[in-house]
This record gives sequence, C-alpha cells and structure tokens, in this order.
Amino acid sequence: MININNLWKHRKLLRNNFQIVPRVVQDYYRLLVLKQPVLRKVDIAVIAGCNAKCPFCFAATLENEEGPQLSLPEIQGIVTEAVKLGAIAVEFIGGEPLMCRHLADAVRFARRQNVLTSTTTNGLLLTHKKIHELNDAGLNVIQISLDSADHREHDASRGVPGCYAKIMQAIEWIRETDIELMLSTVATNENLSNDGVMKVVKFAEHLDVPITVNPASKAGGWKGNANVLLTDENRRRFEQIVQTSHARWAGQVNFLKEGCPCGKEVIYVTAYGHVIPCGFIQISYGNIRQEPLTQIWDRMQEHRLMQEDKNTCIAAFDKAFIKDYIDPLDRREDLPVYIHDHPTYKQKVNG
Ligand SMILES: C[S@@+](CC[C@H](N)C(=O)[O-])C[C@H]1O[C@@H](n2cnc3c(N)ncnc32)[C@H](O)[C@@H]1O
Ligand code: SF4
Repeated sequence: MININNLWKHRKLLRNNFQIVPRVVQDYYRLLVLKQPVLRKVDIAVIAGCNAKCPFCFAATLENEEGPQLSLPEIQGIVTEAVKLGAIAVEFIGGEPLMCRHLADAVRFARRQNVLTSTTTNGLLLTHKKIHELNDAGLNVIQISLDSADHREHDASRGVPGCYAKIMQAIEWIRETDIELMLSTVATNENLSNDGVMKVVKFAEHLDVPITVNPASKAGGWKGNANVLLTDENRRRFEQIVQTSHARWAGQVNFLKEGCPCGKEVIYVTAYGHVIPCGFIQISYGNIRQEPLTQIWDRMQEHRLMQEDKNTCIAAFDKAFIKDYIDPLDRREDLPVYIHDHPTYKQKVNG
C-alpha cells in the first residue's frame, strides 16, 4: 500500500527527522482506522510578487488582488490549523518566497510545531547568508526550480540573465548546511520531445538529489492555452521519467497510493488567504481571513471536484476535469473563483 520506492527517494529527509514519525503514525491511524480525511501538506504562498518573469507562471493569476498579503501571524495561524488537520509538511512558496522578509521566522515557527519545512525558489536570492539563516531556522528542504540544464535556456525561461549561475553557486552553499536540496522542473511538449527534461533529471542524478517534475498546466501565464497540455506521446514520456530513480511528481508521495493529492491531502493557501486545492486549480473554498482553515477544509472534503481517485495530475492530464473545471476559467480575471460561483459546480449542484 505504501510505496517504498518513493520513501526511498526521500530517505535522507526521513532519516534526519525521525521525531516526525509519531505524527506520521497518528495520521495513518486517522486515515485507516478512523477513516478521516487527513491533510498531509500545506503550500503557503508567503508572497505574491516575484523577481523573475517566467511566462508560464501559474501564480501570475493569483497575485493581483487588492489589500495586504499574509502577515507572519496569519502564516503562523495557517500552520497551527494545518497541524491540527494532520499536516506533517509545510511548503513556503509564492511568488518568490525568498522575497518574503519573514520567511525565516515562519520556518522557525513551523519547525517548533514538528512539521517538515520546505521552500521552492527560483534561487536568485539564495545568498550564502540567507541559506545559513534558513538553516539556523531549521528549514529542511530548499527546492530550486531549474527549467533547463543549458544555462542560456534556463535564463531565457526565467527572463533573468545569470539565474543559472546563481543556482549553481547556491547548490554549493546549500551543501555546506543540513538543508536537503531538491530540484523542480516543468515538463513541456518541447522539452519532453527534445530530451531537455531528461537532461535536468540526469543533472539531479549526478547531484544525487530528488527532482519534482511538474507537467505543464494551463494556469497563470498559460491560462487559456490548451497547446501547452502534454500530448499523449509526451505524457507517456513524462510517466516514464517520473519512474526513474531521482524523479517524482507531486502525486507520488501520498499517504497511500499514487494519484492527485490536491484538495485531498494537499492544499494551497494564496498570498491573500484563499484556500485552493493546488496552484493549478484556482478554485477557492474559502478565505482564512473569514473563517478557520478547519472549516474550509471540511467544505473541501464535502464538495470535492472529483469523487473518484485519479492516479494522474488531473489539472494537466484529465480531459474531463479540464473541460469541466479549468476551461471555464480561461477568460476569468477574478481568480481564484469561489467554488459556489464556478459555472460547472453550480450546474452540478443545481442539477
Ligand atoms: C509558482 S513557482 C513559485 C516558487 C518559485 N518562485 C519558483 O519558481 O520556484 C512554483 C513551481 O511551479 C512551477 N510552475 C509554475 N507555473 C507552472 C505551470 N503553468 N505549469 C507547471 N509548473 C509550473 C515553477 O517552475 C516552480 O517550480
Ligand atoms: S515560476 Fe516562480 S520564478 Fe517564475 S515567475 Fe512564477 S513565481 Fe516567479
């Protein structure tokens, strides 16, 4: 039932964080014995803005709200509530999380709640000092996005000359610390056809670090662009790649079996407090500024977009899901849209 191969990919993280084990056992008890839905991980967008210009960025449609972004006490409140729901991991994301001035404080707080902490970053602000500050705060994982093993291609993809070189330097510095390094890359029709993804995965193998491979999703900068969705042939290539020794996709580290974890054991909180199933599915179940996360979580479990379990990324591959829930957002400027205002959801509920 539990995928040993995937646990193996994270052996260093588990070995170094043995104190988390009782909480993991408690989560399995709630899942298997009490039959309760259990939150495993919360992604918190600690900032909406970014210092890069990636044309594909899913966060581009989540950053244009008015009003203040999450404060440190609000981030701490999300962590506290998430822990009550079972969370054993918190990922600080964005926008560019390293631009958030209270990132280290947020990490420190989460570590005191006995959860694993990670941050996904473009690497531009990973100075020697910042890495050591995050290490001192107890950060477990830095996941760096790398779009290509070719420095020119990566820099062009991020719209920032010198980004690749900064990442290579940061990798050296991270290795001086206790922080585990991971990479993240986006699989597109282009880089699956020309072997570009495989070259990034080979680089991760060379470093002996895990790499998350995200299938291209028509969200954010790619909203409304169905051409970015992987063809059947490239989907097969993607599926082969995520079976290799160091690669994984987000649905391979679930409590039980491989599949889309979004809204079931993973949630994403935007920089303005909306709770959405994942960054690619920009449908809000409520805002932590208006009600407790536990209440929003219950709503999410009660009003699931999909009842059946899917063994793939539904936002990238499930044609029926995309037609019903992603396509209607193509022309919306008011994302994330509230679940009860989503046209397909309204239609289903009203018969
Ligand atoms: C939105 S970024 C935020 C964190 C940080 N700024 C970074 O780039 O790593 C999180 C991850 O999502 C990936 N990503 C962004 N837009 C995507 C899309 N439309 N499809 C697939 N992956 C995407 C990025 O490459 C990155 O690894
Ligand atoms: S993917 Fe990350 S680095 Fe690129 S624009 Fe989005 S938030 Fe910034």
